[in-house]
Amino acid sequence: MAIEIIATGKAVPSKRVTNDDLAAKIDTNDEWIRSHTGIGARHIADEDTACSDLALEASKQALAMAGVTALSLDFIILASASPDYYGCPSSACVVQEKIGAKNAAAMDISAGCTGFVYGLETAAGLLSISKSRKRALVIGSEVISKIIDWNDRSICVLFGDGAGAVLVEKTGSPSEGPGKRGLLRTILGADGAGEKFLLTRRGGTRNPWKAGETVTIPPHLEMDGRAVYNFAVKSVTETINNLLAEESASTGATVTVDDLAWIVPHQANARIVQAAGKRLGIPEEKFFLNIEEYANTSAASIPIALDELNRGGKLHRGDLILTLGFGAGLTYGGNLIVW
Ligand code: ACO
Repeated sequence: MAIEIIATGKAVPSKRVTNDDLAAKIDTNDEWIRSHTGIGARHIADEDTACSDLALEASKQALAMAGVTALSLDFIILASASPDYYGCPSSACVVQEKIGAKNAAAMDISAGCTGFVYGLETAAGLLSISKSRKRALVIGSEVISKIIDWNDRSICVLFGDGAGAVLVEKTGSPSEGPGKRGLLRTILGADGAGEKFLLTRRGGTRNPWKAGETVTIPPHLEMDGRAVYNFAVKSVTETINNLLAEESASTGATVTVDDLAWIVPHQANARIVQAAGKRLGIPEEKFFLNIEEYANTSAASIPIALDELNRGGKLHRGDLILTLGFGAGLTYGGNLIVW
């Protein structure tokens, strides 16, 4: 039995905002943004679009690619840091209704930008232990533009909106030995001591609205960029090393970076990827990067990248790929997958 990704989809708002567009409104410039992050543009949702709307679009694409209906879904797992509603209901339930997945259980995952990596492992676990359930939709979707302080140049230039979805199926292929396929292994981790480095302070029960209080700016994301940067470089480096070491130990054959067709990192900052690559001696071309066009789409960035690779003909059956996530929590993780 293998847990395989059988289809992908993505949705990105049509409104494209360049660095120059931002520079016309706040004290920033294209040169700073590009040199510090690798970002050239981002796509921003319109007023009426919420997390579940982009998720729905990406999910429809994945179902169409596989040629299956939503009724065949057993689980919908949606990772987001910018859900339709905080607390409840989950955005996964909103998608379940809109797409007509009447037979699917649905839930959200809150693991910041690592959400998709967590979601894929969660889907694999749920499918593995169930005799009757065989198909899950794993979505990363963000309308993070609506929880950003657009006057804070240190953060607003970094993010964009979008969604990616993958269809995950329990198949009869082997998951080990010759011809193995699908999700081979996952590393998931967290360091809750980093709670304060990336958070939405308001809107939850820690800092509820108090009667008579005037809130001058709505709840928004706050970040200690330097602290997150240091955590990201360390966790990315360790996750690559540990995934390859674990796979080598379990198969008895040395698996190295050379065996990977692609490393698909969370697209937060091209410099994080370059720093990790330099530490491990990995050529830059091994990393798939589309941050220049989309900026940081948080939990959506890995499934958007997978869809672009897939539809672009850059993934072939049998390719070994490695995903890497890090983000709020702080959380981190990675998946090793045979495509
Ligand atoms: N335009 C122009 N200047 C700017 C901008 C901007 N948009 N933003 C900051 N600056 C200035 C600062 O004011 C500062 O000026 P000063 O030296 O006069 O005080 C200078 O640039 C340097 O600022 P730093 O914050 O030190 O810049 P740094 O090189 O650390 O880069 C960055 C900042 C890009 C945010 C980096 O720290 C980073 O990428 N961190 C990781 C972010 C990340 O990965 N987030 C993941 C989120 S995942 C999730 O779960 C949502």
